[in-house]
Amino acid sequence: MRNVEVRFHRDFAIGTTHPRLFGAFIEHLGRCVYGGIFEPGHPTADAQGFRKDVLDLVRELQPTVMRYPGGNFVSGYNWEDGVGPVGERPRRLDLAWMSTETNEFGTNEFIDWCRAADIEPMLAVNLGTRGGDAARNMVEYCNHPGGTTLSELRRTHGWDKPHGVKFWCLGNEMDGPWQMEAKTATEYGRIAQEAAKMMKWIDPSIELAAAGSSGRRMPTFGTWEDTVLQHTFDHVEYISLHTYLNNYDQDTPAFLASVDLMDHFIEEVVAIADAVAARRRSSKRIMLSFDEWNVWYRTRRNRAARVKEGWPVAPPILEEIYNMEDALAFGGCCISLLNHADRVTAACLAQLVNVIAPIMTETGGPAWRQTIFWPFLHFSRMGRGRVLRTEISSPTYSARYNDPQGPINDYYDIPAAPYLKLSAVHDDKVGTLTLFALNRSLEEEMPLTVAATGFPKLAVKQALQLCDRDLTAVNSKAQPDRIAPKPLSKVKVAGETVEAVLPPASWNVIQLAV
Ligand code: AHR
Repeated sequence: MRNVEVRFHRDFAIGTTHPRLFGAFIEHLGRCVYGGIFEPGHPTADAQGFRKDVLDLVRELQPTVMRYPGGNFVSGYNWEDGVGPVGERPRRLDLAWMSTETNEFGTNEFIDWCRAADIEPMLAVNLGTRGGDAARNMVEYCNHPGGTTLSELRRTHGWDKPHGVKFWCLGNEMDGPWQMEAKTATEYGRIAQEAAKMMKWIDPSIELAAAGSSGRRMPTFGTWEDTVLQHTFDHVEYISLHTYLNNYDQDTPAFLASVDLMDHFIEEVVAIADAVAARRRSSKRIMLSFDEWNVWYRTRRNRAARVKEGWPVAPPILEEIYNMEDALAFGGCCISLLNHADRVTAACLAQLVNVIAPIMTETGGPAWRQTIFWPFLHFSRMGRGRVLRTEISSPTYSARYNDPQGPINDYYDIPAAPYLKLSAVHDDKVGTLTLFALNRSLEEEMPLTVAATGFPKLAVKQALQLCDRDLTAVNSKAQPDRIAPKPLSKVKVAGETVEAVLPPASWNVIQLAV
């Protein structure tokens, strides 16, 4: 491949990453909670039943914010079922995932788990089967100090101090027919507006995310955001986005190019949000909460991997096993999020454990890292700071990406995907400049030259690559480190110039001391 060139200047930044950009998601779904983060009786479980081996991996991954309890689950959830004496909590049918919910784990346990992991909680309220009244009661239960029935109830349940939850989602994917009590944009917009008003009257310090489209391919995408924001503009800080990439067609170049559609999606939602602001002559800017993103397809439309008959408790569903090429696409998503740090100020990898997750566990057994664990760890630990504006001169390729609607194929043309996808993040507190670079060529090494103007004395701190000749290689209980980062050797620095050779089909992280 001809030499690929990148230029940037220390003074020109897209924005500074928000701490909430590095979040993840825990849903009452399959073995995410039960057998995932929570397993009383497990050899590593603490007094509350939290698996310490999982907590250790979560601490390694360093997610900053955690969305809970759903997802589709929240649209049928009564938050009251999950608080109070465990023995008295009801067992209910969960219609989102066709399983039985024991409610052994609920909001208070989740808050304790977040505190143990040093993560900000993000709670979703049910705007499917319920509405503003249940939502405002939940805020009062969680955040009001005391002196009212609901706040005193929390205290009698053992949580004397208010939880002080700052970040709340107004329902989940309310545009999707699979959702319990899905709504039109106008129906949802009205309910979300009224719920938001009451929630903020109880606690004006909270921040709210309105539910955007459940995907860019939804037929109502665009008009949904426009209508919902017309209703909620004055009451929310965020609109949400969800994306799951796939390789149904076994077309790896198209799969890796599909990451660029995430960029388009973000830019389109920004345009719609700003159009709503313009109509109101408002200088307020609605931020984007990309609160579900990942690769997900093997266990998505496959009924056997999605539903276990007989309404089981915590069935092993959506346990996607990630391979090397998934880690590449996943790394591309991290770059897209970083490169929109000015407007995407919250994001959640969906999900955290067992269910489409970077961490896998065996019930009663060990926990291990999936391939996607690694790019998330790099993104989360080295991606914080000022994201610089880059000029990239790279050869491109064209692709057709299939994002099916149910059983019907739906193709998107991607005319010019640059082989290099890159983000440059300057952490001026720590004194590092980190380059995240994805080589999307499956055959060719990429000679890369970076002109880092304004950084006169660069030195390599660490250089890592994630790559393997076998793009189908996976990690497993038997081989937990089959895919793990290795040193990237061919990196040279001279003054403001960095030279590297990126292997074919590789995720690379070059961290430089400034
Ligand atoms: O993350 C899995 C599911 O994907 C979530 O419950 C839902 O919001 C989305 O459709």
